[in-house]
Amino acid sequence: MPIKLGVLVSGRGTNLQSIIDKSVSSLIAAEVAIVISDKPNAYALTRAREAGVPAMYIDPRTDKPILTGEAEDDYIRFLKDCHVNLVCLAGFMRILKGKFIREFKWKIMNIHPALLPSFRGLSAQKQALDRGVRFSGATVHFVTENVDKGPIILQAVVPVYQDDTEESLSKRILLEEHRIYAEAIDLFAKGQLEVRDNRVIIGGGNG
Ligand code: GRF
Repeated sequence: MPIKLGVLVSGRGTNLQSIIDKSVSSLIAAEVAIVISDKPNAYALTRAREAGVPAMYIDPRTDKPILTGEAEDDYIRFLKDCHVNLVCLAGFMRILKGKFIREFKWKIMNIHPALLPSFRGLSAQKQALDRGVRFSGATVHFVTENVDKGPIILQAVVPVYQDDTEESLSKRILLEEHRIYAEAIDLFAKGQLEVRDNRVIIGGGNG
């Protein structure tokens, strides 16, 4: 039985699309049960609906970048109602705090377009270019209250070229994001991920 995913989005949704495609082709042991966006016009919602996946906008009811209050309760309730086993952040531009994190402890993943712990936060690809690193990449990690600091599940490295633009580097990283996010979800679905002392042990589960 595939596990059920709840995917939170804010934007164009290429990671969501990759997850849906791999799920439909049974390349991962997971299916997308619900997509929730904090932006009513996110293209990710259109992608979900076109794939026949339930998708909804839930108003975050705040200008702050944090999901909190009644909106936080609503997100939790809808995810629980859909019996979601894993919450995947896929370009979701809100910070998750205490209650949400506790409800889904070690059951929330995020994809970040850099090799954490380098270049946390926004515009990670631009940060990498500005710093002149020769390699960057993508990281899938569990989400904790400390933004982009949760235990690392998988990483992929890409070269950074001297004539790279933010766009060209982002494109190279995105291909790796799609690959390792699916892989991390599949490992989780098969019970292969265990968090010990803030580190992820792969193959340490009961799957
Ligand atoms: C990706 O680069 C992801 O790493 C970051 O937000 C972006 C979302 O892209 N967290 P998309 O909406 O999945 O295309």
